[in-house]
Amino acid sequence: MTAPMALARPSPNSLWEMDRSHVLHPWTNFGPFEREGSLVIERGEGCYLWDAEGRRYLDAVGGMWCTNVGLGRKDMAQAIAAQVEKLAFSNTFVDVTNDPSARLAAKLAQLAPGDLNRVHFTTGGSTAVDTAVRMVWFYQSCMGRPDKTDIVARDHSYHGSTYLSQSVGKRPGDRVEEFRYKETGIHHLTPPNTYRRPEGMSENQFCDALVAEFEALIDRVGADRIGGFIAEPIQASGGVIMPPQGYLRRMWEVCQRHDILFIADEVVTAFGRLGHWFASEAEFGVVPDMITCAKGLTSGYLPLGALIFSDRIWEAMAQKGERWFTSGFTYSGHPVACAAALKSIEIIEDEGLLENAARVGDYFLDRLKGLEALPLVGQVRGRRLMVCVENVANKLTKEPLPDGVNESKRISDAAEAMGMMVRPLGHLNVMSPALVITEAQVDEVVEVLERAIRQVTDELVREGHRIG
Ligand SMILES: Cc1ncc(COP(=O)(O)O)c(C=O)c1O
Repeated sequence: MTAPMALARPSPNSLWEMDRSHVLHPWTNFGPFEREGSLVIERGEGCYLWDAEGRRYLDAVGGMWCTNVGLGRKDMAQAIAAQVEKLAFSNTFVDVTNDPSARLAAKLAQLAPGDLNRVHFTTGGSTAVDTAVRMVWFYQSCMGRPDKTDIVARDHSYHGSTYLSQSVGKRPGDRVEEFRYKETGIHHLTPPNTYRRPEGMSENQFCDALVAEFEALIDRVGADRIGGFIAEPIQASGGVIMPPQGYLRRMWEVCQRHDILFIADEVVTAFGRLGHWFASEAEFGVVPDMITCAKGLTSGYLPLGALIFSDRIWEAMAQKGERWFTSGFTYSGHPVACAAALKSIEIIEDEGLLENAARVGDYFLDRLKGLEALPLVGQVRGRRLMVCVENVANKLTKEPLPDGVNESKRISDAAEAMGMMVRPLGHLNVMSPALVITEAQVDEVVEVLERAIRQVTDELVREGHRIG
């Protein structure tokens, strides 16, 4: 007979075993997973996590760019519990709504830039991106341009994991040959990675070249065929790519000239990571036509995403009256998730967390920059609470170590053994802690990371790699 698992409190080892025997994780690498299984996390408070064996970690990853107000908050728990007791679910299809969903839509309209006053709730970031692409098609068709459907994105972008959002994104390593992607109607431009710009080009010249590449694509494909441009203001999981000065604004101006809708994918950058509710206008001077968001919207307490779009788009879509926008999800406008988002936004306002993210974030980058003196570190970059360290074998040529060396994973493993979580991504170690992080915690992150990098560098040198 199978034991009733819910009744017995399983030992850490059996949790590990249940997971290893039954779960297919996002981005599973089968070999290492079958050998090593997973780290079981049991508890979280503020910026700290505890594993099932009681070890504490300072979480510099912020869950996954998302635990903005910090973990384990009683006020979040109470708001969620109160909504569960009052109304745990009610669908929002066609013409039904609920209190938290209506309130949250109004709040997002108030916080979003320009006339982005309309909100379509989704289950997360991928489904918000899917819906944004569909809305490009719908809007352009309503405007009498049914062929203006192509989407322009950038290499090294990540926009989600559904069929459509993964086809729009194009991060190295994600495109496995076993899967299929939408091959037509999506174009990818050069990522605005100033660190890896062509030799001898200034940052301004690089920016000119990127804008010219977009204009050349429009000439080639035809403005009458390109309906939307999608960009993360700072490319997140593609490498914390800081665009050159003026880049985003100039790309937006190109879009304006050709009636191409500008979609800002702010799944990572919204809700305080850069010290603002939304980064597009506050950091880059761009009022997009649509913003996709998720993650920090509920501070990761519950799954929720949103597509926020302009009155202009609404009016074009609504003008013909009896028309159906047949897109949405059972959990669109989920009352408990929306109540969590409202509470999270209230906490960010009441506790001045945007200001904290700006102040501590500037201090973080400043301290982290000191690591550029280490032989393995090519560049430290990012903005406020969205930062990374790029590892290289040769600082002059910027040549990375061979892929199999996995130095960033080894650095994150070493940091983990020292009680700190940092995310390995290609040749980067990425950090995006909760907005409640303090300067003392930032000091700890930087000190532990430095020790971890030094330890791995010594190992690599002993193994015969040339570093420096
Ligand atoms: C910029 C961006 N867009 C979309 C997504 C997908 O969001 P989700 O995982 O909630 O579907 C992510 C996830 O990391 C992201 O970073």
